[in-house]
Amino acid sequence: MDISDVQSDITEVLLTEEQIAEKIGDLARRIEADYTDDDNLLLVGVLRGAVMVMADLARELRVQLNMDWMAVSSYGSGTQSSGVVRILKDLDTDISGRKVLIVEDIIDSGLTLSWLLANLRSRGAASVEICALLRKPEAVKVEIDVRYIGFDIPNAFVVGYGLDYAERYRNLKSIGVLAPHVYS
Ligand code: XMP
Ligand code: MG
Repeated sequence: MDISDVQSDITEVLLTEEQIAEKIGDLARRIEADYTDDDNLLLVGVLRGAVMVMADLARELRVQLNMDWMAVSSYGSGTQSSGVVRILKDLDTDISGRKVLIVEDIIDSGLTLSWLLANLRSRGAASVEICALLRKPEAVKVEIDVRYIGFDIPNAFVVGYGLDYAERYRNLKSIGVLAPHVYS
């Protein structure tokens, strides 16, 4: 689905399909440079927003890897982080001794990722790094060390390329700013 299919719900196209694809390629080149096949990198995708990033990034990476998924909730159906994180689906993989790379769609307050980072580290992973496609610098409440970041974006609610509002718009090819009339 393209922005033109939901035009009245989007105030501005922030990132086009092409810009996203180019950035995913850049991120993959940087990640490849830091891991070898022997590291047997484990990508941990955070459901459901990171599905598109994971699918595209994993296919760009020319290094041996495994993929696993976690689902956590911090938002409900609103647009504000609650800071209360719950595991809805845990990993199927034992990560002790593994090199883990968390794959996320967006860092907003940072509350979800800082919790996830601590959680995965406590399981004895050899390393835990983060790759996030988007970050909202103005919204950050907790500083986290993010090794791979795609774009810094304005503090607006965005949808598309995996990102939803009330489970809609995930299948947009580009990323846009959601019009206030949709959620107010
Ligand atoms: P925090 O605030 O904990 O939030 O960093 C991270 C999670 O919140 C969701 N999120 C968004 N989802 N548009 C969305 O569709 C947004 O602008 C947005 N901001 C935060 C997202 O699931 C992310 O993992
Ligand atoms: Mg998410």
